[in-house]
Amino acid sequence: MNNRICDMLGIEFPLVAFSHCRDVVAAVSRAGGMGVFGGVNCSPETLEEELSWIDDHVDGKPYGLDIIVPNKVEGKGETLDPDAVLAAIPDEHKQFTNDLMQHHGVDAERIADDIEMVRRDQVASAENLRGGTAAAILDVAFRHPIKLIANALGIPPQVMLEMGERHGVPVAALVGTREHAMSQVAAGVDIIIAVGGEAGGHTGEISTMVLIPEVCNALAEIGDDTPVLAAGGIATGAQMAAAMAMGASGAWCGSVWLTTVEAETNPVVKEKMLVATSRDTVRARSRTGKPSRQLRSPWTDAWEAEGAPTPLPMPLQSLVAEPPLRTIDKLSQGENQGAKDLATYWVGQGVGLMNTQMTAGQVVQEFKEDFLTAFERLSTNLEE
Ligand SMILES: Cc1cc2nc3c(=O)[nH]c(=O)nc-3n(C[C@H](O)[C@H](O)[C@H](O)COP(=O)(O)O)c2cc1C
Repeated sequence: MNNRICDMLGIEFPLVAFSHCRDVVAAVSRAGGMGVFGGVNCSPETLEEELSWIDDHVDGKPYGLDIIVPNKVEGKGETLDPDAVLAAIPDEHKQFTNDLMQHHGVDAERIADDIEMVRRDQVASAENLRGGTAAAILDVAFRHPIKLIANALGIPPQVMLEMGERHGVPVAALVGTREHAMSQVAAGVDIIIAVGGEAGGHTGEISTMVLIPEVCNALAEIGDDTPVLAAGGIATGAQMAAAMAMGASGAWCGSVWLTTVEAETNPVVKEKMLVATSRDTVRARSRTGKPSRQLRSPWTDAWEAEGAPTPLPMPLQSLVAEPPLRTIDKLSQGENQGAKDLATYWVGQGVGLMNTQMTAGQVVQEFKEDFLTAFERLSTNLEE
């Protein structure tokens, strides 16, 4: 296939894979799509390590990077006071998660130190979102042969757009509404990733089926030809073909890679995902403070139940939920049934279509074949 996005990114099939797992990224790029490494949690040092590994395993094929850079890159020299941040977490929220674990047979008291340690590390790595570290992250990124850079939240800062232009690297941004897409193109992004509400991770309310034509039509109305990648619930080539029939230039998928052989998803959660249906996800604020779609489990059910504390704003709610969930992940891989039950992770409604474990390369191949079948099905329908 050869369309605009293929030309822009130097790929043969316009399927883009978002993943926090470098093996998935390299495998998808080698298979003819484009892997995009989720580097949101990386420090400049770990990002350097991850990108160097990808460089060594991608056989010269194009790959991309997804990070969060605040719109104003500033704050150099300022530091967070970790104790002040930790003190801002209400006892009510911590007590709720402790009771929840205890109720499911996870000894919250015994793992309290582990949880606090993860929490402290998390506060330290929140520095990444601040200006000084963000600038160092951008420097690392552009020292590698990335062929796409995406900003996960909000409008990319001017410095990111300028560096992209200087290095000939398209800058992409994720949007969940037509209005956000318009603001992003006005700011000068090169690729819009329109994410429907079915998506795993942070997501809006508008379904992919409505959002894609809305965004494509809005761009056409102002004579803007910025290509759009469709995201949210896409787990097959037929869905990708449908998105492209609505005006998208390709697909951006996150969930479908989580059950691949290469993915570092907790094996217990991987198994849950393989048998989950499209009804087994929930869009909730309880993990990060902003609405994000996750696999339902007794953990997410408890947060949705009457009497649960109101989730705190970002990033405080992450400090409430993430440390116990990471500890639960570890315990779930042993004998603790309660931890196995509670374990959850971000995933979209497309989980209902992810029923067989494959390698990431096989997923790309399946997408290609299913895309062609869908195309032929449509042509046959038109002839009838
Ligand atoms: C486990 C997981 C983690 C995610 N983390 C990020 C992230 O760090 N940055 C980002 O831009 N998007 C992130 N996303 C969202 C994806 O970029 C993408 O919008 C979404 O996965 C598309 O919908 P799908 O999950 O139905 O394929 C994440 C998605 C998942 C499933």
